[in-house]
This record gives sequence, C-alpha cells and structure tokens, in this order.
Amino acid sequence: MKVKAPDWFADWFDTAYYHILYKHRDNTEAKRFLNNLMAHTQLPKNTRILDLACGRGRHAMQLFELGYTVHGLDLSSSNIAFANKFTQKGLSFEVGDMRNDLGENQYHAVLNAFTSFGYFEDDQSHQAVFNNIYRALKPEGHFYFDYLNAESLGEIPTKPEEKTIEGIHFKIQRRLEDRHVIKEIQVTDGTKSFTYCEQVALYYASDFVEMLEKAQFEIVEQWGDYNLNKFEANHSPRCIIMARK
Ligand SMILES: C[S@@+](CC[C@H](N)C(=O)[O-])C[C@H]1O[C@@H](n2cnc3c(N)ncnc32)[C@H](O)[C@@H]1O
Repeated sequence: MKVKAPDWFADWFDTAYYHILYKHRDNTEAKRFLNNLMAHTQLPKNTRILDLACGRGRHAMQLFELGYTVHGLDLSSSNIAFANKFTQKGLSFEVGDMRNDLGENQYHAVLNAFTSFGYFEDDQSHQAVFNNIYRALKPEGHFYFDYLNAESLGEIPTKPEEKTIEGIHFKIQRRLEDRHVIKEIQVTDGTKSFTYCEQVALYYASDFVEMLEKAQFEIVEQWGDYNLNKFEANHSPRCIIMARK
C-alpha cells in the first residue's frame, strides 16, 4: 500500500480545523473507553503509560485521572502546546514522531487510540512503528491499539458531505484508492478557504495480527467498540487489539 500525498498528516492534524470537524470525538468518549479498558485489563496504578499520537491529550489526561503516570507524544506542535497547559507531576507531553526510536524498556503500557496509524508511506513504515512500540515496552508490557474496522466501512458515498460547525464550512469528498480511504476536506472560514487531505490505510484486523506478531507481540484480546463488545469483522465500528510483549 502506498500513499499519494506523503506527510499530509503533518499539516491537517496541526490545524484547529481538525479539532472542530472531530469535536464529537471528545473527553467523554475517551473517558468511557479508558474506564472500560482499564477496569478490564487491571493494569496496576502508578505504572507508566505512553499515549502515542496523543493529539491534545484527551486519553492521556483520563489515564492520569485514573492514577497512572502518563507521557503523551505527538507530531503536532500545536496539539502538544495545548496539552502542555495540563502538565503536572505524573503527566507530561512531548513533540515526537512515532516512526523514530521510542526508547527501550520504558513503559508498562502503550496506547495508540482513534486511528492514529495507517498514515505512512508503505507497509514497512507501519511495521517499523510496531517494532518501536515493542522495544519501548517493558517485558510483559501491554499495547492497546484502536483503529477503524476496515471490513465494516461499507459503501463510500460518491456525493460530498457538507456541514457547518462553529461557523466553519466543511466539504468532504471521500474515495477509495489503493486500499486507502482518502478524504479531501475543503474548509471555508469566512473569506479564506483551504484544502486538506486525510489518507488512512485500510488494514484489516488480520493484517494487524500479522504485523503485531511479526513485531513479536502476543495477541491477548480483541474488541469491536469502546464498550469492549466482542470484535465482529462485518459489524464492529472499531478494531481494538490488546497485545503483550
Ligand atoms: C486522529 S488523531 C488522534 C489523536 C488522539 N489519539 C485522539 O484520539 O484525540 C491522530 C494524531 O496522530 C498524530 N500523528 C500523526 N503522525 C504522527 C507521527 N508520525 N508521530 C506521532 N504522532 C503522529 C497527529 O498529529 C494527530 O494528533
């Protein structure tokens, strides 16, 4: 799988427009997911977790509230500037790239939430990220991975979707190309207009299992939504995998 516009993610996720378009993906959603996940996995408190591609830190902050020591890392400097307003002992953030080394034996758990993967040049680049995560984990450390479920996506609408949120107009044209779902996003903000792109690789759950096992992970559990219902390839909205080093 090859992407057409490398590094689109460095622009789009760094804008305020991304956060306006996805404002429904909020702290309440993060709280529901992590309350369920942490209750289920029983990770001891005071352990150290990396929120990898943390965005503005909605999951990191929730994990911190649950009693964990949390570090968030994200490529977007404006996301990290926002998250840094909440920094305190046990909660820290940093600008960084998951394609680079994440250290060795550093974390009891790593979270990669809300399709923060699938953006890169080719399969090898994605495999390298899983390898980095494996290396960054302590022995028996957990990796929680949350991605869209490509098998349940259904028909991609041919007509563009248009909506106005907080006075900003978005026109979104979706298409499938080369096993990627590609969104062209036209933003109109008063008299200014911009075009952004989102391109996510359509990996299936079985692809992730293969890639994680190749990185030497053991697959522990798989769920299909933030309430941790069982994963069903044809219906589940999410593909959530817990793997162990
Ligand atoms: C869909 S957003 C999700 C953010 C956050 N996990 C959440 O749920 O709110 C994807 C995030 O991945 C980050 N990202 C993209 N490429 C990255 C990279 N190479 N390394 C680290 N973060 C990256 C973006 O900056 C963005 O904040």
